Amino acid sequence: MEQRPCGKSGIDISVYGIGAWSFGGGADDYWGNQEQTEVERIVHAALDMGVSYFDTAELYNDGRSEESLGKALGARRDEAVLGTKVLPQNCSREGVREHCEASLRRLGTDRIDIYMVHWPLQEHSAEEAFGALMTLAQEGKIRAIGVSNFTGPCIREALATGATVAVNQLHYSLLSRAIEHEALPACIEHGVGVVGYMPLLQGILTGKYRTLEEVPWYRLRTRHFRGDRRGARHGGPGAEEEIQAALDGMRRIAEELGEPMSDVALAWVAAQPGVTCVLAGARDVAQLEANARGCSLKLSPEVLERLSVLTDPAKAKLGPDLDYWESPENSRAT
Ligand SMILES: NC(=O)c1ccc[n+]([C@@H]2O[C@H](COP(=O)([O-])OP(=O)(O)OC[C@H]3O[C@@H](n4cnc5c(N)ncnc54)[C@H](OP(=O)(O)O)[C@@H]3O)[C@@H](O)[C@H]2O)c1
Repeated sequence: MEQRPCGKSGIDISVYGIGAWSFGGGADDYWGNQEQTEVERIVHAALDMGVSYFDTAELYNDGRSEESLGKALGARRDEAVLGTKVLPQNCSREGVREHCEASLRRLGTDRIDIYMVHWPLQEHSAEEAFGALMTLAQEGKIRAIGVSNFTGPCIREALATGATVAVNQLHYSLLSRAIEHEALPACIEHGVGVVGYMPLLQGILTGKYRTLEEVPWYRLRTRHFRGDRRGARHGGPGAEEEIQAALDGMRRIAEELGEPMSDVALAWVAAQPGVTCVLAGARDVAQLEANARGCSLKLSPEVLERLSVLTDPAKAKLGPDLDYWESPENSRAT
């Protein structure tokens, strides 16, 4: 498995990273139930195939994702690069320390390899939050500082505090290309690695749903889809026509190449300039193996260009806002 650098941090991670949002999930959680035995099978198979990056957050299943991941890694913890996230509202000087220590306890480790601020700061200043993170780094509680969903100006503000920002974790898929407007160029300019999340748009880009009507309602809450759908809170018009056309076109290209559509979707993200890692969830070992293969697939420049052109109309319709869940007025990425 190819390993790529996380910006200037000196840490390398695998091009395929495991998203652990579903780990530790129960019946009432977003992803539903995920058995610990299955999590352990996924984590060990991933390590065996050279997948080194594992991503979680204090938010995921109220901390149970961290607990589940830590337990699954067990004695093999040192083989992994462990990333977790603190919510921006917890980023006061004392808050960062308290929440980091709570994550360390749940993960069952003495250090977090990449500790990220989950969304741009609102109530706490960059000096306060990143100052506290730099102190934790000096103490060895964290190895590198990262951010998530940060716009170009937010990244520059973080860097101005003197912090080295290893990665910016951003929603990036063939149907979610808002980062190309300015966050991605800013990351490239400042040497911040991009970890692209939801590259399969929660399964929609795998081709397993022929039409959007087959997709479970809770995966249709983003601005890609009409705001009057159940669970959506953005109130926007969606881009369903453009998305259906892009999915049909992708299916044709995948058939032409003789590759599964999910491999094509992952390979496209892995090939984009500035991308360090493609972060996809896996519910079982079969999905893990498929995703590892997809992230390692090399597409020709012509195919990459055709895929980009195919999804340009969806990109134009959805605009530059990095927050795909909220309306532009309520965007958390400002
Ligand atoms: N920083 C942030 O704000 C943020 C936000 C969201 C996510 N993330 C991170 O990114 C990770 C990935 O995002 P995600 O899990 O939401 O979305 P995703 O990776 O696009 O989709 C994952 C889901 O798609 C299905 N799937 C995965 N591989 C498949 C395959 N090969 N064939 C068929 N179906 C497949 C699985 O669900 P089913 O089998 O149930 O269909 C899986 O749980 C998260 O776990 C999390 O670590 C970060």
